[in-house]
Formats: sequence, structure tokens, C-alpha cells
Amino acid sequence: MLALYRPLVDRVASETIVVAHLGQSLDGCIATANGASHYITGSEDLDHNHRMRALSDVVLVGAGTVRHDDPQLTVRRVAGESPVRVVLDTEHSLAETYAVFQDDGPSTLLICAEDRVAAVRYGKAEVIGVRRCPMAGLDLLQVLDCLANRGLTAVFVEGGGTTVSRFLRAGLLDRLQVTVSPLILGAGRPGISLPEVASPAEGMRPATRVFKLGEDVLFDCLLRDG
Ligand SMILES: NC(=O)c1ccc[n+]([C@@H]2O[C@H](COP(=O)([O-])OP(=O)(O)OC[C@H]3O[C@@H](n4cnc5c(N)ncnc54)[C@H](OP(=O)(O)O)[C@@H]3O)[C@@H](O)[C@H]2O)c1
Repeated sequence: MLALYRPLVDRVASETIVVAHLGQSLDGCIATANGASHYITGSEDLDHNHRMRALSDVVLVGAGTVRHDDPQLTVRRVAGESPVRVVLDTEHSLAETYAVFQDDGPSTLLICAEDRVAAVRYGKAEVIGVRRCPMAGLDLLQVLDCLANRGLTAVFVEGGGTTVSRFLRAGLLDRLQVTVSPLILGAGRPGISLPEVASPAEGMRPATRVFKLGEDVLFDCLLRDG
């Protein structure tokens, strides 16, 4: 427990730390093809997710996750405060009816492309516009700067695969946590998806620690020193 959570507890509050997590099947899927992901990993990994939320200033997800899961993104399974909820929705395409925009839970920031901002609020959420990234989605460095300007420096990226992959590709993750469940789906939505490499030697091979979570195995990958 200490080895896994201490980096978040001991962090310097003024420095941004970004940790992403995905729970996937043995064959690398984070959801079925129709988007169902409850639950690929077991209750220990769910507890882990809630601990990570409780230790973070922000829990951040992509629009696809809100569209499919309509999550609350609060801390319920462990002690601790719920973090600020952040939704990245480049095109401001999500309906206003989702729980994160309507409930009386922690505050929500909806971050979209600056050319898509129509009003400062969307439901109960605050809307923030940032630059688009030339490749796809939003300029994630500017997203992190906006959050840091509000004192939100511990960022937990909880999915989905597109969002985690964009943070990884941009070199903005300090740690990537992948929990693998002994489940085979055969087909489904991929977890990490990056541009092709020509040989295994060209793949990333980060320093990794391994933790057993019930029947699942958590790979905690260190992507940056600290
Ligand atoms: N197992 C896990 O750990 C875990 C965790 C979270 C979510 N999930 C599952 O992952 C899935 C969502 O992941 P994801 O990679 O699709 O999306 P995501 O990372 O949550 O969303 C990121 C971006 O993907 C695009 N997008 C995704 N779905 C879209 C749609 N239906 N229509 C338009 N744009 C869409 C948008 O891109 P642009 O920026 O280009 O507009 C969106 O901003 C869900 O099935 C969810 O249940 C699994």
C-alpha cells in the first residue's frame, strides 16, 4: 500500500503529477465493442480507483466515458474527499443531462476547444476553453496549466483509452497504471493505442512495479523520474 500510494502522499503540492489508470482484459480490452466496461476488473481494483481519486485534486475523463458510463466520479468505497471532476469534450458534444453536469456532487469543469465555448456554465459545470492539439483533441499541456492555475496539481486520468493514450503520447504521464484481469473478451475497445512501431525494441519499456489486487495484477509504470 505504502509503495503504491506514497508518491501521491509525499508529492510537492506545487508540482503537477499526472497518473493514469486503465483496467483491461488479458487480451487488452477496456470495454466490450458496445462500450460496456462494468466491470472488467474486480472489487480490489475498484477500491484502488477510489483511493486514487481520494488522493488526487482532480479525476479526469474523456467524453466517451461520460457518454457510455454516466459516472459520478466521487469517492464512495474508501474514506476521503472527492476530487474536482474534469471532463474533456473537445467538440462540447455531450448532452447536459449527465450526472457530472447535474448532480450536487463535487464541482465539475468541462474543458472543450476554445472555439466551442458558448457559455461559462453547462448545467452546474464550469466551461473552460483551451487550444486544440494539431494531432487530435485538446492541447493537454494547456489543460494541465489551467488546472495548476487553480491549485489542482494531482491529476488522476481515469479513462477511457483514447484519453489515456493522448496523455501518454504527449509525454505528460508520470505514471501509468494498468490493471489486468484474467478475463478474455475476444474483441472490444482497446486500452492504450499509439502509432505503430516497427519492432518490439522500439516500444516503451518503462520501469514497472507489480501489485496483486485480488485476482487481478496491477502494473504501475514509472514514466518520469520522481
Ligand atoms: N476499463 C477501464 O479502465 C475504463 C475506464 C474508463 C472508461 N472505460 C470505457 O472506455 C470507453 C470510453 O473510452 P474512449 O476511448 O472511447 O473515450 P474517452 O477516452 O473517454 O473519450 C475521449 C475522446 O474520444 C472521442 N470519443 C469517444 N467516444 C466518442 C463518441 N461516441 N462520439 C464522439 N467522440 C467520441 C472524443 O474525441 P475528440 O476529442 O476527438 O472529440 C472524446 O473526447 C467506454 O466504453 C468506457 O466504459 C473503461
